[in-house]
Amino acid sequence: MKEKFYITTPIYYPSNKMTLGNAYTTIVCDALARFNRKQGKDVLYLTGTDEHGQKISQSATKLGKSEKEFLDEMVEDTKDLWKLLDISYDKFIRTTDDYHEKAVQKIFTELYKKGYIYKGSYKGWYCTPCESFWTESQLVDGKCPDCKREVKFQEEEAYFFKLSEFGEKILKLYEEHPEFLQPKSRVNEMVNNFIKPGLSDLCVSRTSVKWGVPVEFDPKHTIYVWIDALPNYITALGWGSEDDSLFKKFWPADVHVIGKEIVRFHAIVWPAILMALGIELPHCVFGHGWLMFGGDKLSKSKKTNEHECIDPRILAPRYTSDAIRYFLYREIPFGYDGNYSTEAFLTRFNADLSNNFGNLVSRTFSMVKKYFNSQIPEYYQPTEDDNMLKDYVLSQVKDVFEQMKKFDITKATASIFNIFTEANTYIQKVQPWAVAKTGDEKRLKTILRYLLETIRIGSELFEPFAPTSSRKVLDALGVEDKLFTNLDNFDGLKEGELKPLDILFPRLDVNAELEALSKLG
Ligand code: MSP
Repeated sequence: MKEKFYITTPIYYPSNKMTLGNAYTTIVCDALARFNRKQGKDVLYLTGTDEHGQKISQSATKLGKSEKEFLDEMVEDTKDLWKLLDISYDKFIRTTDDYHEKAVQKIFTELYKKGYIYKGSYKGWYCTPCESFWTESQLVDGKCPDCKREVKFQEEEAYFFKLSEFGEKILKLYEEHPEFLQPKSRVNEMVNNFIKPGLSDLCVSRTSVKWGVPVEFDPKHTIYVWIDALPNYITALGWGSEDDSLFKKFWPADVHVIGKEIVRFHAIVWPAILMALGIELPHCVFGHGWLMFGGDKLSKSKKTNEHECIDPRILAPRYTSDAIRYFLYREIPFGYDGNYSTEAFLTRFNADLSNNFGNLVSRTFSMVKKYFNSQIPEYYQPTEDDNMLKDYVLSQVKDVFEQMKKFDITKATASIFNIFTEANTYIQKVQPWAVAKTGDEKRLKTILRYLLETIRIGSELFEPFAPTSSRKVLDALGVEDKLFTNLDNFDGLKEGELKPLDILFPRLDVNAELEALSKLG
């Protein structure tokens, strides 16, 4: 049986349009999903939208739309964006999907019957116009942080999940399975900030929120936020429905990739819910850092994506989705915060994609055209330079696989670019144009074949990250196989003719682009 790989993004709130920040997680997961598919695994890549709650209702009302009408539009926009960014998700879940709502009701009822959910009362500062509860620490100058109006202390009947009972069990989980929560630094955050001070029970229903899934046995309550959202990872697989074959096949998840601000819910609340239900835990929760913009976190409410022109809807058609994807993988050290700046993006575009990868491909292809009429040459006795190139390339292949096992897309893309850099250095060293002048055809053929094999291997590895440009190169080389093949040797190319290839990443005039973008933003 094929090995399986189940990967998820968070389900995003569609209260506003998705930003480059949300795209970041989705793009990261896409490379991991594609990489695992190319290894021949049966991959399920899940993403979706978290559609209940007050904020959604308010956003719809503001626009004079029903929730459903508003959400359908936002989901369409989200799916369009994922298409633009070449996101190869296998399933898109909406928490308003009927099967999800039914399964969440079932979870709630089961937890209640097992004694993990009980009725209590929720106390907090209530803002009537916003219909929102706030904790003391969320208030700004004692007022509502959203509308700045007066709030009053209020109590409302609510159900609670006994999270407080799970502290020890979660600590044991982290100890016995150090791979469960990554990167390692997140474990300390969870232990020191939340578990050691003592976990509080979690409010899981509201009577004041109308846009949500009603509690089956007490329908004046709606199921509140996290207990509606987190189970998407199993309801999407048909858990609790008549057909749970996907659940049987794909659960437990291999990795839930999320932003660091929601690690607490994924690494404490979610395992606690699963333990209470007697369901296996996911193998790994990976809490990545934030994409920062001028020192701030990008977020939907700040709208930086509009005025600063970091809107992927503008950037992708202008610079290709491959370039944006590559930049995010490479520039933001995976697991940590990193900065997005247009200047850094344009600089990397020129240095890495245009001058390094693009130039390597175009100069090699043009030499094969010039000297051998675009016929892929055979190779002869390799020299020390050739062997060194080959050994280096194969060592980087190993590196890429090792990094990807650890989900480290940043180091993996760095290793792939090491290959391209090395090949460019090799060209400078062996000077094929000089060899051509000597008339040593065998030597020239060997050099060009070694370069083509290097490009083949580099492009194979790069395909999960930059699917469009890498596939163009692989097609031009006559590599049809969609799975990784011949990554441990330099005999992967078949005899034949190179197909013509346009320039992959035409060099950009950074200043002109900066100016043009500032007008678009
Ligand atoms: N609906 C919840 C998640 C429920 S999962 C069961 C939610 N939604 S969200 O729309 O606010 O999306 C948050 C996620 O978007 C983050 O966890 C992260 O994956 C991604 N990001 C949003 N802005 C980001 C950055 N600026 N940088 C990196 N990731 C960011 O929370």
